[in-house]
Amino acid sequence: MAIQIDVQRYQPRQVEQPYGQLLETQDFPRSDPWSWKMRQVLAERATVFSGKPLIEGGIGDARNELEIYDALHGVGFSRPTSIIGIDIETWRLDFAAHNLEQTDMPYELIYGGAYQWLAQLPEKQIIEGNAIFCLPQAPLLIGESVADGYDARYIPDYAHPWDTYGLGLNFAVLTELGKRATTDFTAFTMLNTRIPEEALDAMVAAAGWRIVAKHSTEPLPVQQDPDTDITYTIQHDDGQRFYELTKSGTYEAISALEAEKRRKACLVSGGGRAELNVYHHLIVYELQPAKIVN
Ligand SMILES: C[S@@+](CC[C@H](N)C(=O)[O-])C[C@H]1O[C@@H](n2cnc3c(N)ncnc32)[C@H](O)[C@@H]1O
Repeated sequence: MAIQIDVQRYQPRQVEQPYGQLLETQDFPRSDPWSWKMRQVLAERATVFSGKPLIEGGIGDARNELEIYDALHGVGFSRPTSIIGIDIETWRLDFAAHNLEQTDMPYELIYGGAYQWLAQLPEKQIIEGNAIFCLPQAPLLIGESVADGYDARYIPDYAHPWDTYGLGLNFAVLTELGKRATTDFTAFTMLNTRIPEEALDAMVAAAGWRIVAKHSTEPLPVQQDPDTDITYTIQHDDGQRFYELTKSGTYEAISALEAEKRRKACLVSGGGRAELNVYHHLIVYELQPAKIVN
C-alpha cells in the first residue's frame, strides 16, 4: 500500500539568493546528462508547450520550465499558460519558486508525491496541455538522494510489478495521468535503457499511452551516475545495455554486472565521474493517450 501523504499546495519560503540569479539543485546539477538531454529535447519541441498548461512531476528547481520559456521567447511564441510543479522535498520547491519568479508564468507548487497528487483528482477531471517527467528509475537506497532513486512507498500496489525494471513510479504516474488527460495531451518522459527498450515500450503501453516519438541519446551514450544503483538491471541484462569508452574512442558493450562492479569500486575510491567508465543510453519518450478517455 502506498503511504498516506497529504498533497497540498505549497507556500514557498524565501531563499537567500538575489533576484536574477538562478538556483540549482546540486544533487542533480544542470550538467547531469539526464538533465541536458531533457532540456535539449524540450528546447527542440518547445512550441508544443506554447499557450497550454504544463505539469511537471518532480519539478526540482524548475529548470525545464525555464528552458521552455526561453526557447519559446526566442522564437516569438507565447509561454505556457500555467505551471503546476510537484515535488516531495520542500527545499526543491523553494528553489523552483525562486527560479519561476524570474518569469511571468503563473505557477502553483504542490508538496507531495506526483502519483498521490494525480490519484486524488476525480477520475472524471479533464487534464489538458502537457506534462514533463524526469523521475528516478532505481530503488532508493538508504542515504541516497530522492533525485536518484524512488521510494517505493510513494506508489500504489498495482505499480509494484514494474519496480523490477525501476519503472514503478513512472508507471503509477503515467497511469493516473492517462485516465484524465485529453487525447491531444502530450507527456515528455525521460527513461533509460539500462534495461531493454522493449520493457520501456511495454510500460508506457500498459499505462495507457502511445509513443509519438522517441528522442534518444543514440549514437553517443551518456555516463552512468556513480550514485545511482544499477543492481536491479542485472536480472534483465542482454549484454547490450552498458558500454565502456575504449582508448580508441569507441563505445563497446559491457555486462550490467561489470557496470555495477565498476560503479561500486568508484564509490569506494571516491573518484566520482572521472573514474567511472560506464555509459548507457537515455530516451525521452513523447507520448499521447492511447485511447479516448473523455
Ligand atoms: C532526477 S530529479 C529531476 C528534477 C527536475 N525535473 C529536473 O529535470 O531538473 C527527480 C526529481 O523528482 C523528485 N521526486 C522523487 N520522487 C518523487 C515523487 N514520488 N513524486 C514527485 N517528485 C518526486 C525529486 O525530489 C527530484 O526533484
